[in-house]
Amino acid sequence: MNNVLFVCLGNICRSPVAEAIFKKKTADTGLSAKFMADSAGTSAYHLGESPDARSTENARINGVKVLHKARQFVVEDFNRFDIILAMDYHNLHRIEALAKKHGIVHQGIRLLRSFQNDPETLEVPDPYFGGPEGFQEVFDILDDCNQKLIEYLTAN
Ligand code: 4NP
Repeated sequence: MNNVLFVCLGNICRSPVAEAIFKKKTADTGLSAKFMADSAGTSAYHLGESPDARSTENARINGVKVLHKARQFVVEDFNRFDIILAMDYHNLHRIEALAKKHGIVHQGIRLLRSFQNDPETLEVPDPYFGGPEGFQEVFDILDDCNQKLIEYLTAN
């Protein structure tokens, strides 16, 4: 279970930050070579765009550099990734619908927050239409999720 894909709607706010945190944590613990991480969006709204400046700036303040260009989730991703982590139910259902349409059974599709201990909700909130405090809230959730995710991946 070493290829990890984070998926949100636009691939400019939540999932690129999740990917960047995962890469930093694995690099900081000497685990980079064991894993491949990427992110994608279920929509085509922001294809080719850099991450939202509010996400990038918030992550920078937290010591994480976000480098990505938005891309859409594609059917080939089911083969390329062992674990596909959706930020919320809407995106989980879009991924599952694409799998169903292509007759694909994939055992590793789940909500990212399912890795947290007793999360108040299983969804990472979408910060796109909200204020700056939403970006720090999202960062804190993604940081905790990634910590637990890496513990899970290294134990299994
Ligand atoms: P993301 O946030 O899914 O975390 O990248 C969003 C980005 C863009 C839009 C919605 C959510 N949008 O509607 O354009």
